[in-house]
This record gives sequence, C-alpha cells and structure tokens, in this order.
Amino acid sequence: MFVDISSSTMRFETPPASNTAPQPIQPEVDANSRQVNQAMKALYDHYFASHDYVKRYPQPNQTTLNFLLQHGAGQAQDILDFGCGNGRYALALLHMTQAKLTGYDISETALAEFESHLESLNGQARVRLLHGESAVLDHSGSYDMVLLLFGVLSHVGGQQARQKTLLQLRKLMPHDGKLLLTVPNLWRRRPFELAKAAWMRWTGQARDLQVEPGNIVFTRRLAGVDHQFFYHLFTVRTLRLELLAAGFEVTQVEAESIFPEWLITQHAWLGALDARLSHFLPAFLGYGIRAVAKRI
Ligand SMILES: C[S@@+](CC[C@H](N)C(=O)[O-])C[C@H]1O[C@@H](n2cnc3c(N)ncnc32)[C@H](O)[C@@H]1O
Repeated sequence: MFVDISSSTMRFETPPASNTAPQPIQPEVDANSRQVNQAMKALYDHYFASHDYVKRYPQPNQTTLNFLLQHGAGQAQDILDFGCGNGRYALALLHMTQAKLTGYDISETALAEFESHLESLNGQARVRLLHGESAVLDHSGSYDMVLLLFGVLSHVGGQQARQKTLLQLRKLMPHDGKLLLTVPNLWRRRPFELAKAAWMRWTGQARDLQVEPGNIVFTRRLAGVDHQFFYHLFTVRTLRLELLAAGFEVTQVEAESIFPEWLITQHAWLGALDARLSHFLPAFLGYGIRAVAKRI
C-alpha cells in the first residue's frame, strides 16, 4: 500500500496516478487531506477488487435500511449516496423506492461493482454513477436526501476537508432536504490507536492531521496485504458540532448497532438480535452513531 506513517507524522504517500489525465487542483484543501483522499481511493480500489469488502459486509445493515425508510427514503425524489461503494444501500433503495439514485464514490472499482449489479435490474434507468473529484457533483442536480453511510465522512481527511464536503452537500440540497449519516463512535472503536494518537499530541510529537483529536490510522489485512485506513472517530457531541458548523442541525441521533457491522451483516440471526437490542442502547454507546440532520 501507499501509506507511510513515520513515528512523528501521519503522512500518506501519493499512489501512482491511475490514468494519464492531469488531476484537477483543489487549492482550498490542504496537501495532507489530498494525500488521505488518494490513499483512500487506492485502498478502496484494492478492497473492492479483492472482493474482501463484499465478503466482510455482504448486505446492508437492516436497521440502517429501515432507518432510511423511516426518515423518508420512500418519498424522496432524488437521493445522493455519497461514498456509495458497491451500492450496498443504493441497490436496496432502488428496489424499495421510486427515487432517482445518484451514487458517487472516489473508487472506480467500487462503482464498477455497483454497475455490474445494475445490468439485470429493472430500475437501472433511475441510477446514475459519478466518479472523480467531488466537483463532479457541482451542478449535478438537487437532492432531497443525501446519504453518508458507514464511515464515509470519517475517511475524508481533516476537519477542513470534512467541512468542505458537508458545505458542498448542503448546497446540493433544497431547504427541506435531509442528510442521513452513520459514523464510527470514538468510545467504541480502536482504543489502542486513539491512545497512541493522544500520546503523540500530549508529548508534542503530533504533526499535520495527527494534531486533530479523533484522527487515527489503523491497519487491516486485505487479501494478504496490510493496508492502512485513515479514520476520524466521532462522539455524539463532535458530530453535532461539525454538522452545525456546516449549517446542519441534528434532529435525531441513535446507536447504529451493538455488535460490529461485519458480524451483523454476515450473520442474519445476529443482525436480528442486534436490531432488537440496539433499540435500547443510547447513541453514545453504539458501535456507530446514526443521525438525521436538516439544513438550518
Ligand atoms: C466503508 S465504505 C462505505 C461504502 C458504503 N457507503 C457502504 O455502506 O457500504 C467507505 C466508502 O467511502 C468511499 N470514500 C472514501 N473517501 C471518499 C471521499 N473523499 N469521497 C467519496 N467517497 C469516498 C470509499 O471509496 C468507500 O467506497
């Protein structure tokens, strides 16, 4: 993989360009965030190409799907699934709603997998897939529902970059539009990496993105190769504040699940049990945090 983390910095090496076309310049997002973007793109291209993603998360989390429907997916006209991956949620929504669906992702491989599922589907004319710099979304339309599901926002490196993304999404929504998102919970995830990052900050060794509390890098083995993931972990409070700063008010927040996503999506009985129990779990104890936000 293309990520290098020295003892004092959180630094991503730039992967080789996947095509020969020059990449558009984004002067307002700093170099660290662009490196995270490029590293996440390379990582997810490999994750989807190796089929490890679909093996690990073979279906949507049923309670998250129900949550989307409870909050208006069935009535939505235009849904944008930002960071749609292989269409785990968008394909289910295609079956269950009459909405037009736009899937956007930085990973071409994810979108190729998504597209391969569309070939045999009736609703394929309602689907549009967009790839590349997020600027492709500008002037792409207006979306009454925007989805940021399963940690997509956490992969957008640095608070400034997340704000830019949220502000961009807000512009694409009408005044009564809804943003539905799920993010990893800081109190439930990666204590070792969090402690290491806290130590770096405390001892003054943290540099660049490491300076921001909640940012971590962790390693996962995919198809026999170690890969490093950039993640920003949220608390209920920091999620509310970040959304507020981008002009969104959180109107509902809840626990996404008790057990890890891979367990409940690989084992239906565990998913059903989790659905019953997580209903009683406070949001701050969930494996992930699920939220609804509206434009202010
Ligand atoms: C954990 S997966 C979630 C995929 C899908 N939402 C799901 O629930 O299965 C994270 C996805 O976010 C995408 N991603 C990461 N950074 C992104 C960015 N800056 N812009 C758009 N997509 C991004 C990845 O390529 C990947 O498909």
